[in-house]
Amino acid sequence: METTLHVSREPEKLLAERLVLLLNEPGHKHVALSGGNTPRPLYELLGSDYAGLIPWAKLSLYQVDEREVPPDRPDSNYRMIRETLLKHIDDVTFERMEAERIGAADDYERLLAVTLPQNEKHRPIFDAVLLGMGEDGHTASLFPGTPGLQEKRRFVLRNPSLDGGRHRLTLTFPVLNAARNRWFLVRGKEKAAALRRVLAGKLPASHVREPEWFVGAELFADAADGSGAE
Ligand code: 6PG
Repeated sequence: METTLHVSREPEKLLAERLVLLLNEPGHKHVALSGGNTPRPLYELLGSDYAGLIPWAKLSLYQVDEREVPPDRPDSNYRMIRETLLKHIDDVTFERMEAERIGAADDYERLLAVTLPQNEKHRPIFDAVLLGMGEDGHTASLFPGTPGLQEKRRFVLRNPSLDGGRHRLTLTFPVLNAARNRWFLVRGKEKAAALRRVLAGKLPASHVREPEWFVGAELFADAADGSGAE
């Protein structure tokens, strides 16, 4: 199980550059974006400094997960992606998870089946999935102790979160792991312990197959200055 770790003061830039290289390969690309706060600077970079380097008309963007709220609510992942990226770009295709609607998980699963190429196990293949990680080691909306962790068949699922059990729509490990590239972006010292445990194979994000990690140097600051408190 190979894991690659890129540690940088600006991991968003490293990831943006990798994405530009991928998106300039021949053919139409399919990329799934996570929500939360960490990817904001990445999406802002893609919509500004790097926008001229990306063939947007040859790209379809999807969501890794979404909260069950309308797209204009402050906690909507779509709203964050629209505000940081989509509003700056004209000709990209964006497939929104309509998580506020009953039946949205089945519909999104059907969408993936008809728009993405499939592997030998008939799983949709993203060119890249951009993932985050919570302090509890979750990724997407695959939280510790929730049914979504065990899902082996479905590609999109309604799964309970840990904030009062409110459900979210999420891609599942079968489709995350079918992606050609599985890239994590993690920032914040508060995530250092979770990252260590994920790398040790102990938390939900550990189930992502051979990921590449783009990690802020602050997560290793204590280790670097020798005061590494466990
Ligand atoms: C979401 C994300 C989620 C996120 C982690 C980290 O819907 O919140 O998809 O998986 O990546 O919770 O969130 P932060 O980036 O806000 O720390």
